[in-house]
Amino acid sequence: MRVVSVVGARPQFVKLAPVAHAMAAAGVEHVIIHTGQHYDPMLSDVFFTDLGIPAPDVHLGVGSGGHGAQTGAMLAALDEALPPLSADWVLVYGDTNSTLAAALAAVKLHIPVAHLEAGLRSFNRAMPEEINRVLTDHAADLLLTPTAVGAEHLAAEGLAGSTVVVGDVMTDVLLQVRDRVSGSPSPVMEELSLAEGSYSLATIHRAENTDDAGRLEAVLDSLARVDHPVVILAHPRLVAKCAEHGVALESRGSLLIHPPLAYPDLIASALHARGVITDSGGLQKEAFLLRVPCTTVRPQTEWVETVELGWNRLVEPGEALVEAASRPRPTEPREADAHPYGDGHAAERVVAELTAHLPG
Ligand code: UD1
Repeated sequence: MRVVSVVGARPQFVKLAPVAHAMAAAGVEHVIIHTGQHYDPMLSDVFFTDLGIPAPDVHLGVGSGGHGAQTGAMLAALDEALPPLSADWVLVYGDTNSTLAAALAAVKLHIPVAHLEAGLRSFNRAMPEEINRVLTDHAADLLLTPTAVGAEHLAAEGLAGSTVVVGDVMTDVLLQVRDRVSGSPSPVMEELSLAEGSYSLATIHRAENTDDAGRLEAVLDSLARVDHPVVILAHPRLVAKCAEHGVALESRGSLLIHPPLAYPDLIASALHARGVITDSGGLQKEAFLLRVPCTTVRPQTEWVETVELGWNRLVEPGEALVEAASRPRPTEPREADAHPYGDGHAAERVVAELTAHLPG
């Protein structure tokens, strides 16, 4: 079996890591295509190095651009890159423009497509990610969903026949990296002289929070008003949008600005934090798995289990954010509810399902 993984943005490299290891262990021929959506070393190369992912076999070098230009450039490049690889499966990950482009390119070339992290929904069609994931699910032949809730969403859209629940591959990596870094101090604690459990770790990069100047200002102001230090890891989109809108991205009040972190450093920094404040999907779940309370600056989440179990709160910028960020720790979930994202072996199941569903 030959599987071609197409990745391009930071969270996809994290998901690729356990899948690449499971493919290697099972003796599967695995080809990696990097679209080039993310190209800064701190958003791309460090993930390959730190997580032991083989270097991409093909790099499309597409780079940044508007949705149409970026997705279109990837489509055109994949039209050329995919046919010579004679893939049994094209495996696409998550919900970025790279995901949609790869699914669309492959399905039109009649190459079977599997979507990893299928079935997640925010039901907010203003989010580019929601459009990407819905269209990818409907183009794909095999839907590998992380949760029972994901399977329900797919069934409601008439896609039950191609759905398999495999668990969450990000949980696989998180559990391994947590065990690797649990004894080491967090780099942000050392650099900013912060005590254990005294700070919140923040990331803000979603279009909904960064594209409008007023909203962006309100989010940063709220972070600055939290009653304890808040370290924001500044994603390039946040930096670019602050510059575009003339919003100052500087340490003020409780807010401390820090460059993005490599994955093991991010996990160590979250592990020793008193809270996480974010609009990222992955970090909400990572906070839950590390049992760090999370405050999510969005009206909806795809990871509903984190909210239902009391570890995540959805807020608007302003008083609600400030108050949620200093709320007390919730109670531990009951053992029966404690593992909604699987047992840390999802990637092995992904390989098994690709093998079992190999088109004739
Ligand atoms: C993308 C995904 C988002 C995901 C995020 C993870 C889409 C629609 N969005 O958002 O779902 O949560 O990745 O990080 O695919 N930039 C750089 N260097 C880079 C990459 C980007 O400076 O290496 C800057 C550029 O100014 C660029 C902006 O960030 O225009 C946005 O990058 P883009 O790839 O369009 O989307 P993200 O915001 O990173």
